[in-house]
Amino acid sequence: MVAPDESRGIQKFRIFSSSIVIKQVAPRGLPYPDAMGIGGVRLKEEYSDMNLKDKVAIITGASSGVGAAVARNLHEAGVKLVLTARRADRLEKLSSELKETVFIAGEITEADLPQRLLDKALKTFGRCDIVLNNAGTIEVGSIPEINIDKVCQMVRVNVEAAYRVAYVAVKYFLSQNHGHLINTSSVLGTKIRPMAGAYAGTKFALEALSEALRVELARTNVKISCIQPGLILTELHRDYKVHPKDSLNIPKPLQPEDIARCVRFILEQPDHVRIPQIMILPKDQEI
Ligand SMILES: NC(=O)c1ccc[n+]([C@@H]2O[C@H](COP(=O)([O-])OP(=O)(O)OC[C@H]3O[C@@H](n4cnc5c(N)ncnc54)[C@H](OP(=O)(O)O)[C@@H]3O)[C@@H](O)[C@H]2O)c1
Repeated sequence: MVAPDESRGIQKFRIFSSSIVIKQVAPRGLPYPDAMGIGGVRLKEEYSDMNLKDKVAIITGASSGVGAAVARNLHEAGVKLVLTARRADRLEKLSSELKETVFIAGEITEADLPQRLLDKALKTFGRCDIVLNNAGTIEVGSIPEINIDKVCQMVRVNVEAAYRVAYVAVKYFLSQNHGHLINTSSVLGTKIRPMAGAYAGTKFALEALSEALRVELARTNVKISCIQPGLILTELHRDYKVHPKDSLNIPKPLQPEDIARCVRFILEQPDHVRIPQIMILPKDQEI
């Protein structure tokens, strides 16, 4: 006779084994058979992830720091660019330096901006292959000092807008059966330190979405990656009373160009390679 607990165990085993059977019946067509096309996961003959020349990338947060450095780096590789940020003068200057570069100046939390960026890429260049989901802001502080309104604005930029950009990108990439979404997360998307909990929370949220999308898109030709940098010398900390390089004693932080090389490395992998996450830290960051 089977004891009640054992009987439950058998049932669990039956459910488990029947789900295996379902997977064996239809292992590859789920959940995006159209995106995979006839013949499974193969890309069109002429397409290769490794050759960046003439690919088209959208970069958010492109007016300074990481976004601007990635724009310059990808431009050298022959990528055509659609840039966005709020400071039109910065975007104007950068796009006049780089050939085949256009921009839309705007507030990334405007709900229709991600779709307008995609439309701009398609109308101007006829394609979109890469999205760097990079616009971000930081708000940290001790319990008595933290500005909750600024924290909520950070959540809108780092989470809500980043999610909109991500979904617009992956929907389009699925429809064409290729594309690479790279999210600028942070080392604080994997670790937490006092007074930076809300910022870390926004990056954990980006990591969670990225991981779910990556698994959902496995077996398609849509790639999802997250970059997790430590301290980079950019304009992000311009309002800090004491810069983190001093408060954290990191005399030589990362440069935006270090992150740009990472992005280029992730993008230039062969079609069968996935890099879900890459952490990059300055030598002296103890975290
Ligand atoms: N610096 C670091 O130590 C560090 C470390 C880990 C991760 N990160 C991440 O790296 C990403 C890029 O930051 P960064 O370090 O390069 O700093 P940054 O120089 O301040 O660049 C931030 C970019 O985001 C744009 N942006 C901010 N708020 C926006 C809004 N509401 N609407 C549209 N664009 C907005 C800014 O442009 P406008 O001001 O012109 O709009 C700027 O182009 C962020 O996601 C950040 O969280 C940075």
